[in-house]
Amino acid sequence: MDILSGIKTRRSIREFAKHDIDDKILFKILDAANYAPAAGSLYNWRFIIVKNPEDKILLSEASYDQEFVSQAPVIIVVCSDSIALKREFGKNGEIYAIQNATAAIQNMMLAAHEFNIASCLCGIDKEKAIRISLKIPEHIDICGLVLLGYSKRPAKMPSKANLSAITFFDTWDNKIKKSSPLFPLMSAFESAVEKIKRKTLSKRRTRAKIKS
Ligand SMILES: Cc1cc2nc3c(=O)[nH]c(=O)nc-3n(C[C@H](O)[C@H](O)[C@H](O)COP(=O)(O)O)c2cc1C
Repeated sequence: MDILSGIKTRRSIREFAKHDIDDKILFKILDAANYAPAAGSLYNWRFIIVKNPEDKILLSEASYDQEFVSQAPVIIVVCSDSIALKREFGKNGEIYAIQNATAAIQNMMLAAHEFNIASCLCGIDKEKAIRISLKIPEHIDICGLVLLGYSKRPAKMPSKANLSAITFFDTWDNKIKKSSPLFPLMSAFESAVEKIKRKTLSKRRTRAKIKS
């Protein structure tokens, strides 16, 4: 799968088939996560692989009681050890820690997609319960849960932001023109419409000539 189609066809999946993920594939997915960009090359992400049914139930309760969480064959608890980042970058290190972990999560989900494995990133609202059960030290942040498994059925594409409404040119709120070369698809669509218009017009003219 090429990168762009991988990015566009990945969906958050919340219904998983029962079968497990082969450990070799799982480690390839985590290895891809480990190749994410990291501020100062300081690799703060940490992964806990959870397969135990009891722990999965605890994680689902700690994730806004979302029942489907416990149904995922594998849950990766993504954590962050931001000590080195804070030492190097001070307060900014806290933001970089989140950004690094998020980049790793995205790599993880895209790599999973390459292996036809579905994923869903889930937030947590009861951090303490996870910390105690999974023996996560106090100085480690818990970033989120990545559910991994084989999808039961294809997911629908949720609505996406309108790129031309969220992209500005040079300065904030200077909206980009729809026909800008930055929107190749839009340009292709517009030129196709123009082509159809021209064809219709020329057909009308020919018909008018024949009539007269
Ligand atoms: C930070 C973050 C937290 C999320 N938490 C949840 C969650 O707790 N439960 C859930 O079902 N989906 C969660 N999602 C997934 C989003 O709902 C999903 O990405 C969004 O609907 C867009 O769908 P897509 O991923 O299929 O493009 C989360 C996504 C992000 C980025």
